[in-house]
Amino acid sequence: SEELIEKSKKLAAFAAVNENVSKSDRIIGVGSGSTVVYVAERLGQLENKEKFIYVAFDGADEIDTNLNLIKGGGAALYQEKLVASLSRKFVVVADFRKQSPERLGHFWRKGVPIEVVPNSYVKVLKDLFKLGANSATLRDAGKAKAGPVVTDNGNFVIDADFGEIPLNKVKELDEKLIRLVGVVETGFFVDYAEKAYIGNEDGSITSLS
Ligand code: A5P
Repeated sequence: SEELIEKSKKLAAFAAVNENVSKSDRIIGVGSGSTVVYVAERLGQLENKEKFIYVAFDGADEIDTNLNLIKGGGAALYQEKLVASLSRKFVVVADFRKQSPERLGHFWRKGVPIEVVPNSYVKVLKDLFKLGANSATLRDAGKAKAGPVVTDNGNFVIDADFGEIPLNKVKELDEKLIRLVGVVETGFFVDYAEKAYIGNEDGSITSLS
């Protein structure tokens, strides 16, 4: 239920902050999405909040058992990767739906979001099919407005489904994608997450590291 999902998001977020923020930390990075809202709530409750440094928290759309992530469900993948790459410790918070049984390619089956320069999208769509995508579609803004989603950087987002991706193949695929002319960033976060806190339906927390 919605209530269980919200509870598990909060559970994961509070545990993540409690275990990963120390008094000497001066700057804390926070990504976007509905789960990190609870990270902000918990950070706000802590004393000495002016003294934070070095850790960043973010949600994820999918997490495999090697801590490879898919992010960008909210189209904020570039700025989130910027925050993640600036942090020395990147901690993921998520509800139970986000943990893939093993490998990426389960949750939502929307595939990986890829930010592209607008005038390259037709070419990149073709490239993606050549690289083996089962589907690749330009993300539409839907009810929000007519036309495609436009990112904070003025770019478009393509969602590309490569099916289930073996744990040791994510990096290889990501490197191929990032080399395509027109691709700005991908929603694969490989070698970023140090820890993940996943709130379970029964009120327990799974932590991966
Ligand atoms: C934003 O672009 C995404 O990467 C979010 O961080 C991700 O979709 C997780 O969001 P929720 O915490 O709302 O599930």
